[in-house]
Amino acid sequence: MATYDPIETASLAELRALQLERLKWSVRHAYDGNPQYRLLFDAAGVGPDDLKSIADLARFPFTAKANLRDAYPFGFFAVPMEQVSRLHASSGTTGKPTVVAYTRNDIATWASLMARSIYAAGGRPGMKVHVAYGYGLFTGGLGAHYGAEALGCTVIPMSGGQTEKQVQLIGDFKPEVIMATPSYMLAILDEFRRQGVDPQTSSLRIGLMGAEPWTEKMRAEIEAGFPLAALDIYGLSEVIGPGVAQEYADTRDGPTIWEDHFYPEVVDPETGAVLLEGEEGELVLTSLTKEAMPVVRYRTRDLVKLLPGTGRALRRMTRIVGRSDDMLLIRGVNVFPSQVEEQVLRCPDLAPLYLIEVTRPARLDEVCVRVELRPGSMAERVKVARELQTRIKDNIGISARVEVMATGSMERSQGKAKRVNDLRPKT
Ligand code: DLL
Repeated sequence: MATYDPIETASLAELRALQLERLKWSVRHAYDGNPQYRLLFDAAGVGPDDLKSIADLARFPFTAKANLRDAYPFGFFAVPMEQVSRLHASSGTTGKPTVVAYTRNDIATWASLMARSIYAAGGRPGMKVHVAYGYGLFTGGLGAHYGAEALGCTVIPMSGGQTEKQVQLIGDFKPEVIMATPSYMLAILDEFRRQGVDPQTSSLRIGLMGAEPWTEKMRAEIEAGFPLAALDIYGLSEVIGPGVAQEYADTRDGPTIWEDHFYPEVVDPETGAVLLEGEEGELVLTSLTKEAMPVVRYRTRDLVKLLPGTGRALRRMTRIVGRSDDMLLIRGVNVFPSQVEEQVLRCPDLAPLYLIEVTRPARLDEVCVRVELRPGSMAERVKVARELQTRIKDNIGISARVEVMATGSMERSQGKAKRVNDLRPKT
C-alpha cells in the first residue's frame, strides 16, 4: 500500500497520542489567541486545562457558522493580521460570506494534505493535473493548485468555466488528473461529445471530485464517460478547504478523514449528543494544527456516518447524503436532492441533470422536477416523465410533476450545481 505520509500507516495508539497532543495545543491556542473562543469557553465553564483526554472534547461548546458570521470579517482569527498570509471566503447562500485565514504554515499544511489526497487518489509526481475548480475566494482552485505543486505535478490552472477551452486543453496538454466538481465534470463530458471528441480517448485517468453532494450513480456516469477513476474529495472552507478527507483509489470506500489534522465527531443534529461509530448524524470537526483560524467543534451541517478505516487507523466517512440545511420538507416528507438524483440517473433516457422546484401556490407544497432528455434518446417525453414520476413516488414517497426538457436546454453547472429552487413563501 503506497502512502504519501507515514501517519497513513500509523497504529491507532500512535494516532490517538498525536491527536491528543495536538488537540491540547489547538484548544489552548484558540482560547489564548481569540476572544470569541474565550467567551464561548467561559460561558460553557470549560478551559484548555479541562482537556486531559480526547473524550473531554465533548465538554467543549460547538462553533456554528452563525458564530463565524456574527464575527465578520476577522473575528475568529487567532493570530495578529501580520501573520495572516491568505484569506479565502465561502459564499453563503444568504448575506455575508464567511472569511477564513491561513498563516504560511497553514498554507504549507494544506498543500501537504492536498498532495496526500492526490496521491491517495492515484496521482504521482510528474503527472499533469488539470484544475477545473474555480480560482479565487473559493478554496477549490488554489487548494488543488498548491497540493498538486507540492506533490511534484505539473499544474494546469484552468479554473472553472470556458468549457469549450477545457476540452481543447485536455486534448492538447494531456493531463492524467482532473479536479472538478462532479456536476462540472458532466458538463465537460457533454462538451466533449458536442465537439465530436470521444471522451474515451482522453488522457484523463484520475478525477478528484467534490465540493457538492453526488451519488454512486453519478460516479458510474462519469466513469462510463471518461476512462478515469472518479474519487470523492471532501472539505469545507471553515476547516481548511478541500483536503479534509479523501477517498483512496485502492479501496473506493468513502473518504478517509485526515484525522491527524482534523478530529471528527458525529453528533445528533437535534441534541448535540456525540453518536457512536456507524450512527448517522452531523459531522463536527476540530482543527488540530491550524494557526490563523482554529476551529473547535465546528458544526459542518453535513450528514454522515463515521466508519472504521480500511486497514488504516484513520477513519472513513460515508458519502454525504446531504446537508441538514439542504433537506427539503415537502408535505411533511424529508427529501434530499441526492434521492431525486438517484432516481433521475436510473432513467436511461434522461441526462444526469436535474432541478427541483418547490412552490406553494395554495396551502400545499408542489414539486416540479425538471430534467433533460439524453442526447440521442428517441423516447417520448411524456412517457419518460411518467417513468420518473413513478420512481419518485415509489422510492421517495412524494408526488412530483416532471418536466422533460429537450436535450441541451438546461443550464450546466460550472462549479457547484444548483439543485433546488425553493420558491415557497418564507414563514
Ligand atoms: O467546497 C471545499 C472543496 C473544494 C471541497 C473542492 C472539495 C473539493 P465550501 O465552499 O466551503 O468548500 O463548501 C463546503 O460543500 O460542507 C459540503 O456540504 C459540501 N461538500 C464538499 N465536498 C463534498 C463532497 C468546498 N465530497 C461544503 N461530497 C461542505 C458532498 C461536499 N458534499
